[in-house]
Amino acid sequence: MSNNQSLNRRQFLKIAGASTAATVLTCSGLSFAATRRPSIPAIHACYGETSAMRKTLVTYATRAGATGEVADLIGQVLASSGTWVDVLPVENVHNLGDYQSVIVGSAIRYGRWLPEAAEFIHGNLSTLATRPLAYFTVCMAVREDTPQNRARAEEFVQPVRALLEPRASAIFAGKVDHGRLTLAERLISGIIQMPQGDFRDWQAIRSWGETLPISA
Ligand SMILES: Cc1cc2nc3c(=O)[nH]c(=O)nc-3n(C[C@H](O)[C@H](O)[C@H](O)COP(=O)(O)O)c2cc1C
Repeated sequence: MSNNQSLNRRQFLKIAGASTAATVLTCSGLSFAATRRPSIPAIHACYGETSAMRKTLVTYATRAGATGEVADLIGQVLASSGTWVDVLPVENVHNLGDYQSVIVGSAIRYGRWLPEAAEFIHGNLSTLATRPLAYFTVCMAVREDTPQNRARAEEFVQPVRALLEPRASAIFAGKVDHGRLTLAERLISGIIQMPQGDFRDWQAIRSWGETLPISA
């Protein structure tokens, strides 16, 4: 068996073990404790001049808050180029038609965008297709920025790219803080040996925001 195959097998066994542990926890009487999340304030922000001609939406899905903070910086950067920007969780977007351009971001859990972010794209395909659109993804796979890790992380974004291809898409390293996770998530993070720490590269995020092609 090649190294690559044995690595995949190890990863498979870890993930299978983690899923079993999570299922046992969730199905047991510990379910409430296992899934109770420390309270994490959602970021809702507006930046820029209300008189600005263009309105941009930066919307995001998060579980532990890191992706909202990335969205917030992108919003501030875009506002500095003269657009009005709303930064909102996807579940709080009500008037998508008000925006001339849209940036959608999601954290990765178990190799996928969070379901509410993918559903946001799926549910608004016709409106999003008529606007400059960009995606950003926040995950731990690119904590070490190698071509192999980037290729693996690109696979996480593929299902939403297949729904609608954005003008730009970026993948940023994220953050794991056990104090912001549920008991089940802490357990799973331990089993798959996910390192704790904040690996977000604020300069890379800022630079991406500065070059976003959001004009019509
Ligand atoms: C339970 C759990 C599962 C995760 N699964 C993945 C994964 O499959 N791939 C990955 O690259 N990162 C994974 N991560 C890392 C998160 O994507 C990363 O911590 C991200 O910054 C979380 O963003 P959030 O704080 O906005 O929820 C996982 C984290 C946790 C806690």
